[in-house]
Amino acid sequence: MPLICFASPKGGVGKTTLTANLADALQREGRRVMVVDFDPQNTLRLHFGVPLTDMGGFTADLPRRPDWRACVRETASGVMVLPHGAMELRGALGLAAALERDPELLAAPMRSILSDPGLTVIADTSPGPSHALAVLVPMASMVIAVLQAEAISAALIPDIDSGRFLGSGTMAALFAGRLRVVLNEVDLNSRLSRAAADAVARHLGPRLLGAVSRDETMAEALAMQKLVQEIAPDSRAAEDIRGIARAVEAALPAAPEAFSMGWGAR
Ligand SMILES: Nc1ncnc2c1ncn2[C@@H]1O[C@H](COP(=O)(O)OP(=O)(O)OP(=O)(O)O)[C@@H](O)[C@H]1O
Ligand SMILES: [Mg+2]
Repeated sequence: MPLICFASPKGGVGKTTLTANLADALQREGRRVMVVDFDPQNTLRLHFGVPLTDMGGFTADLPRRPDWRACVRETASGVMVLPHGAMELRGALGLAAALERDPELLAAPMRSILSDPGLTVIADTSPGPSHALAVLVPMASMVIAVLQAEAISAALIPDIDSGRFLGSGTMAALFAGRLRVVLNEVDLNSRLSRAAADAVARHLGPRLLGAVSRDETMAEALAMQKLVQEIAPDSRAAEDIRGIARAVEAALPAAPEAFSMGWGAR
């Protein structure tokens, strides 16, 4: 506990980059953190220096019911990484079908992972809806949707408002309350970017956790298989990530006292 789940209706917006760097920031603040990769691109591990040649993982193996403990990679940052594992198209389709048939393949190990009260878990997902996301969202304390300060992201705001991209009907309304947004790649030198960021911020109010500047350092860190705080702690991106980490700390529900009446804490 707790689970933070990154999701986005749109691809390429920075989910994986923010998952990795937020995990690092929270770990530096004293939390014990594990990240789990649910995207067949299998790239989350690269931010933590897991070798390219290490193709093994957790999610890709779910139909064979792996022991998640045996799949954990310890990393120099201290963050534990559960990689997705390498997977080709046919395998990805087979995994999606298996999760649709039997969501317990994922729900059971997630319950086991989340039963550690001292562990903060951050999940990175593939863009758009997925069977994995449908299992993860009801377990999550917070779902973070990443948007960019541009027109398409602005057009997706109604989906964020309604929680529609997390499900439909009552489920959507239920989960919309846990939804927070991070605006990524804000360019203070671009009139359009500033205007879009301003409009999104006014609309979302406190549901906006924060914004991250467009900063080459982010891409450079990935190229070096390192985290932004490691290579450039004074960069704007590093400062922004620390701000997001503080906002996450403030928004996470306190220890699960609400469940102490006998349900949910097991
Ligand atoms: N704030 C930023 N400034 C500059 N570049 C960034 C920033 N955030 C992410 N990037 C770059 O944008 C690209 C996409 O980022 P990332 O892979 O994290 O997106 P994603 O949402 O996980 O994509 P996908 O939907 O394919 O999983 C990467 O090259 C990354 O280095
Ligand atoms: Mg990604």
